[in-house]
Amino acid sequence: MRIREFLPSDYDAVRALWKRCDLTLSLSDEREEVERMLRRNPGTCLVAEEDGAVIGAVMGGWDGRRGFVHHLAVEPGRRRRGVGRALMAELERRFRDMGVVKITFFIERRNRGVTEFYRKLGYEMRDDIRPMSKTLREGP
Ligand SMILES: CC(C)(COP(=O)(O)OP(=O)(O)OC[C@H]1O[C@@H](n2cnc3c(N)ncnc32)[C@H](O)[C@@H]1OP(=O)(O)O)[C@@H](O)C(=O)NCCC(=O)NCCS
Repeated sequence: MRIREFLPSDYDAVRALWKRCDLTLSLSDEREEVERMLRRNPGTCLVAEEDGAVIGAVMGGWDGRRGFVHHLAVEPGRRRRGVGRALMAELERRFRDMGVVKITFFIERRNRGVTEFYRKLGYEMRDDIRPMSKTLREGP
């Protein structure tokens, strides 16, 4: 297994992985939107590859203040072998090298086991924050 940069040519494989992992997909996950994410965040969007197949992916983005994590996913048949941990370790290493102070992200409540995974990686659950959002652009 090796970890490398998520390239625009990986889009179809990663989208198929997201679907197999039952992630909630939105307008932000369409090809053009993901390509913009990759252009704006060179080096912090990653895939895990094994025998030429994408078995994991994560998108990291830095807004200049916080490092954000989106859509960490590992192939259902390849879980509990350290792939998720390796993807996050590489992302953290790259964020640290860029000078990122803190990593923040959201977990959908329906993704229950994920909080335990992140706890093992040293992340803390925040009870003092409520996420808010406003949609600026609707899908086609
Ligand atoms: C969460 C996810 C990425 C973990 O990937 P993974 O490759 O199986 O994780 P790892 O094997 O690196 O596990 C690292 C540690 O977390 C633990 N862990 C992993 N998944 C866990 C779970 N569901 N419940 C409890 N612990 C878990 C492992 O046992 C391991 O612990 P250890 O180091 O003490 O042995 C994977 O389950 C996944 O893709 N889930 C569906 C997609 C999803 O919900 N993504 C998050 C969107 S916010």
